[in-house]
Amino acid sequence: MALKENSPIGVFDSGIGGITVLRELAARFPKENFIYLGDTARLPYGTKSPETIRKYGEQNLNFLIEKGVKAVAIACNSASTQIPEDSYRNIPVFNVIRPGAQMALQVSIDQRIGILGTRATVLSEAYQKAILRQAPNAFVIAEAAPLLVPLAEEGWIDDPVTNLIAYRYVQRLLQSRIDTLILGCTHYPLLKNSLLRAVGSSVTLVDSGAALAVHMSDFVAKNPNAGKHDKIQFYTTDASSNTEKLVKALMPNKEFDFLLADLC
Ligand code: DGL
Repeated sequence: MALKENSPIGVFDSGIGGITVLRELAARFPKENFIYLGDTARLPYGTKSPETIRKYGEQNLNFLIEKGVKAVAIACNSASTQIPEDSYRNIPVFNVIRPGAQMALQVSIDQRIGILGTRATVLSEAYQKAILRQAPNAFVIAEAAPLLVPLAEEGWIDDPVTNLIAYRYVQRLLQSRIDTLILGCTHYPLLKNSLLRAVGSSVTLVDSGAALAVHMSDFVAKNPNAGKHDKIQFYTTDASSNTEKLVKALMPNKEFDFLLADLC
């Protein structure tokens, strides 16, 4: 499909958690247009095999490319571990891994970096490898924190139960004296307060979505939206009454068209 002057940036996630990444992108690039795809019908990805995640990820890429996007930002960390930053059908693809690793190395004083993510993300070792490629002497430790995803979806933000679970997940990392923690999952920025309380003030949190937005600045500067500004098209693969409410609560100043994607 030929690109137009107002071609949007496509963003996809396994569900609506990727709104934390869309929010960062829309704040950094207010003139850009966006199409979001949340594969809510097949969520979670973090418990699935690399092959399945790759297959779903490629279907999402194809869907967005057929909508005429000028680039794709993979918000989902689990999918980012399986789909490299590259071009797909001649469209540039960005993911959260390298930007998250790079930002962690920038902010870490002692190069002792922890990673929290889904099981798929932790087992892939994508963050670990990205960090060690740039800083072979860095200390890296990862912990899968799958229970945090449903807690965020349930809206248990800053809840005593969430605080307790966050505390338990970071214990091993704190014992290893990390000074930086990568939030390697779309949902975790929603639980930032609990995580901050759990790690204490000596650990810096890195939001991989925010890092991705910084990383895409060059691309957007070279390929700015030269056309009109549209509402954000928000596709999901399953209709849920909760989606609109949550999206509007997290991005109250933006306008959306909520649509169903028939891709499964
Ligand atoms: N979006 C996923 C990620 O960032 C979390 C939810 C899931 O397991 O699909 O890894």
